[in-house]
Amino acid sequence: MPSPEIIRTPKEMSARADAWRRAGRRIAFVPTMGYLHQGHVTLLEEGRTRGDVLVLSIFVNPTQFGPQEDLARYPRDLDGDLAKAAGAGTDVVYLPEAADMYAPGHQTYVEVMELEQGLCGERRPGHFRGVATIVAKLFCAVKPHVAIFGEKDYQQLQVVRRMVRDLDMGVEVVGIPTVREPDGLAMSSRNAYLSPDERARASCLHRALEAALEAAARGERDAAALCALATGVIEGGGPNRIDYVEIRDASTLQPVSRVEGPAVMALAVFFGATRLIDNAVIAPGA
Ligand code: PAF
Repeated sequence: MPSPEIIRTPKEMSARADAWRRAGRRIAFVPTMGYLHQGHVTLLEEGRTRGDVLVLSIFVNPTQFGPQEDLARYPRDLDGDLAKAAGAGTDVVYLPEAADMYAPGHQTYVEVMELEQGLCGERRPGHFRGVATIVAKLFCAVKPHVAIFGEKDYQQLQVVRRMVRDLDMGVEVVGIPTVREPDGLAMSSRNAYLSPDERARASCLHRALEAALEAAARGERDAAALCALATGVIEGGGPNRIDYVEIRDASTLQPVSRVEGPAVMALAVFFGATRLIDNAVIAPGA
């Protein structure tokens, strides 16, 4: 596979996207923060099938990290990322600099008022404001027809969908099922932080979701009972701290006490200092 072309500035990216659009080419886009794994490669492969031009962005976005979070040590491997991008048939890697994305005096942010509340939004104040803002800025430069996101970041996917709808962005947003390790752990760049012992313990997250899905399939509708079941499985796996285990309506993300329609069980759990998230959609009667 040929190496992708690298574009570094919003101005150049935007001009290139305009030219593709004038030529009638369909732009597929995968935004990432780099340190690509098989989950990202799956998003790129999906993008390849959905566009004539495939753009990957790599930008570790400072505004979505809290002051105590891992911005400075977020894992980076540009050479490895470029090799994976090439292997997945990426045409362009957009690599903007923080100074270009947030010029001095930057004061414009995008907030998706309700979907940002609760779950990770409650535990990571400002996180989704940062995500929505950077995704909007990336869309302005890349001008995609279709953008591909992982369902592992379930709340992020709902926030982006709503932003695109509310701001008439005209981008098709596609969610792709979570890619998992053989023991069920959701692939994540942050898995690189885990010690071998933490990594082994973290497999309880998937077992917890599976236990809840099985109980729901057997007819359990009580959200508190399903959360208690999942929490018990996680506690058995030896987490350092459970941040949350919750069930919410699958599209509004409002709390539900009974699972009578599509709902999402979402969880965030610390192993050592590493906070992992995962989720499963419960669709009763499906
Ligand atoms: O999911 C991610 O990697 C990031 O949140 C995103 C969408 C690239 C925005 O920085």
